[in-house]
Amino acid sequence: MKTQELINTARTLVANDKGFLAIDESTPTCKKRFAKLGIPQNEETRYIYREMIVSTPGLSESISGAILYDETIRQQKSDGGSFVKALTDVGIIPGIKVDTGAKAMAGHPGEKITEGLDGLRGRLAEYVQMGARFAKWRAVITIGDSIPSRGCIEANAQALARYAALSQEAGLVPIVEPEVLMDGDHTLEHCCEVTEETLRMVFDQLYRQRVMLEGIILKPNMVLPGLTCPQQNSVEEVAAVTVACFSRAVPAAVPGVAFLSGGQSSELASARLNAMNIKFKSQVPWELSFSFARAIQQPAMGIWGGDSTNNVAAQDALYHRAKCNRDARRGEYNA
Ligand code: 13P
Repeated sequence: MKTQELINTARTLVANDKGFLAIDESTPTCKKRFAKLGIPQNEETRYIYREMIVSTPGLSESISGAILYDETIRQQKSDGGSFVKALTDVGIIPGIKVDTGAKAMAGHPGEKITEGLDGLRGRLAEYVQMGARFAKWRAVITIGDSIPSRGCIEANAQALARYAALSQEAGLVPIVEPEVLMDGDHTLEHCCEVTEETLRMVFDQLYRQRVMLEGIILKPNMVLPGLTCPQQNSVEEVAAVTVACFSRAVPAAVPGVAFLSGGQSSELASARLNAMNIKFKSQVPWELSFSFARAIQQPAMGIWGGDSTNNVAAQDALYHRAKCNRDARRGEYNA
């Protein structure tokens, strides 16, 4: 295993207050987001949109790594180069989503298991050839009546660990993403319990599968009250409970915790990350970073709307949200 290279890449991905831009929406998810804005839902439009995103001037001031999707990493740009080259040329490390999606879990109504382990070793080798330096796998945990079950948490944690081991074997830093969804009316405290249980199981499985923790990045949910919970906690409460939860369950060897945005507004996601860094940056062993898709892209996608005459305004919006999150890593975000 290329131990030192993996450690260096993982550290670089969370260095200098930068974070990840996730543009790895699966085709069905991208279609849904385009449909809501009346944007044509075809391969060419996805290509044009993502080319506009990655060519945002100054993006690398705030973004260390970009997560691509299988379709995107295979597309040729109009100048003949690849997305990997476009990113690498500006100093952004390219990565790739390698799971094949969360599917209904047999015997577990309302719960999902992420698929994609079959043939993964071969696919990882191909992505390495294409220039990817890290990989991402997302597991989904749902809070509801009598769920999540232990069976669901355990199966997802094991799949994450097996993917992480294969990624490190291939020389790719695994971005380990166990997402406890914010859908539902559960409280902040309940989300904290479920997130802690999930993280403990994930790290137990990572240990069993001999994953080198110094060479991974954790991409978790923030600890949040459910979207329809009557009690919506303050930014400071969310920050304190999230950090307390992670302090109990995430080993100090992990270089970085890069939160997903999960459907929070762009402003709240930045404000909560900012609050964590203001108060706890010097107290926690890992970098507190971001790996946002919606919270960075959403305003830009709305402005763009499928019309290239809006490219500059959309890129300005994208640059702005990326910079907001860099500021949040410094505890300097101003809403
Ligand atoms: P969101 O930030 O939109 O939740 O996306 C995170 C993600 O998993 C994409 O890689």
